[in-house]
Amino acid sequence: MMINSFKVDSPSVRYAEDAISSTYAYQSTDLQHDADGNWTLKPITTNYHFRTGTRVPKLGVMLVGWGGNNGTTVTAGVLANKLGLTWMTKEGLRKPNYWGSLTQASTCRVGNYRGEEVFAPFSSLLPLVHPNDIIFGGWDISSLNLAEAMERAKVIDFELQRQLAPYMRDMQPLPGVFDPDFIAANQGARADHLVKGSKQAQLDHLRADIREFRESSGAERVVVLWTANTERYSQVSEGLNDTAESFLAAIERGEPEIAPSSLYAAAAVLEGVAFINGSPQNTFVPGLIELALQKGVLIAGDDFKSGQTKIKSVLVDFMVGAGIKPTAIVSYNHLGNNDGMNLSAPQTFRSKEISKSNVVDDVVASNALLYSPGEAPDHTVVIKYVPYVADSKRALDEYSAEIFMGGRQTIVMHNTCEDSLLAAPIILDLAILAELLQRIQVRAEGEEQPRALHPVAALLSYLTKAPLVPDGTPVINALGRQRAMLENVMRACIGLAPDNNMMLEFK
Ligand code: NAI
Repeated sequence: MMINSFKVDSPSVRYAEDAISSTYAYQSTDLQHDADGNWTLKPITTNYHFRTGTRVPKLGVMLVGWGGNNGTTVTAGVLANKLGLTWMTKEGLRKPNYWGSLTQASTCRVGNYRGEEVFAPFSSLLPLVHPNDIIFGGWDISSLNLAEAMERAKVIDFELQRQLAPYMRDMQPLPGVFDPDFIAANQGARADHLVKGSKQAQLDHLRADIREFRESSGAERVVVLWTANTERYSQVSEGLNDTAESFLAAIERGEPEIAPSSLYAAAAVLEGVAFINGSPQNTFVPGLIELALQKGVLIAGDDFKSGQTKIKSVLVDFMVGAGIKPTAIVSYNHLGNNDGMNLSAPQTFRSKEISKSNVVDDVVASNALLYSPGEAPDHTVVIKYVPYVADSKRALDEYSAEIFMGGRQTIVMHNTCEDSLLAAPIILDLAILAELLQRIQVRAEGEEQPRALHPVAALLSYLTKAPLVPDGTPVINALGRQRAMLENVMRACIGLAPDNNMMLEFK
């Protein structure tokens, strides 16, 4: 059963005109051990005060790589939803939806009523921006307008493209900051729409673009999101990008190792605008992270978690949680879109390989009964460019595992799916949730003043393959745990207990 909206009635929750305040008793465990290695676990309760602004701002989203497959697909999808367009295919009439979006198409269990479980839309937990209300803008190094770029992407059905083209023809990406050293040489052919000048001039140009977008669109809150080509890793070294100061000085000197993605991120942070990295490269060099911390600007990444990795972070979590030992994971991909063409160069592929490889680390580390120290499954990732399949990516995975009494288990999976149709709802969720997180203030017991959440938004981990987290805090990859982290924090903001699945009332 589903309810569409609700109010929480509790002495620890207060609904005011512009905010919901809650006091939440967070139960955790304090761990201690003595000199002999005897551990003691002490349950503790810490009170947290949350205040969530309920006025939903007009949100502007600037996509870096707006003219790419993801950029055009997300724009087309939102327009089709907003305009209520329908289109015929050989399977019949199609209607727009937001399937694949956590915030728009998933539910949360809020309790039981007369023996039946009751669910509410995820979006009913706290007030969220609706995707139909997002204003899109952004940059691309290719000069095609969004209607032409949508046609080039070959993702949206033809009849819908025909209806959308008049709206998208006037959407023109701003010129992009391009450095051929960071992406595959095969991308040079589309780079005809560029910001010229030194690195510093390019940074200033991007900052002015953000200001101008804010003004012309009337957006009260802006999020910048990188959905442009995967770059190679940039080198991190002392005096170059290890501190905020050295990073900004390196831009001023025009150091070649400053990647375009880091320039866009710096522009956003300096304009006080959240920046999200949807690709795997190390955009967030230490100096940039320090800059975001200094300015208190939200940053999140890296690399959308859309298909193969999402399944991996469920399947391996299930196996290790069941006491089964995965010993080898081999993942093949082939795809034929521009992302695939860019990833056919070794240095950009390497970025993807790294972000796809670390996804089982936390799960393996959780079970020392199965794995001895330093031991991990063999993990191989292969990506090949096959133009014919276009955006319809194929992912083939083989999981080998050891089971009871020396037995072996092999699971093989083949997934075919249009990549951009998986990524587009994730882009929306990232922008919508990044906006929400900036409306939440928190004060833990013992803290004097309410503060914003930590600028490094680990709460968005569910949506990324290689979650960026604050220094010294655990990275969670297991999908179920990532979803629970986000949902439970949102529940705490309205004074609801985490969904602990105990269902004691029935026991
Ligand atoms: P795409 O190649 O179709 O789009 C990228 C766009 O970025 C292109 O239009 C290109 O001209 C533009 N671009 C490149 N460098 C730029 C720069 N410096 N400034 C401005 N624009 C620039 O790729 P697609 O399929 O849209 O994917 C985008 C990114 O998202 C890729 O890095 C991909 O690895 C990543 N990603 C995609 C997933 C998916 O399921 N589609 C999942 C995970 C990550």
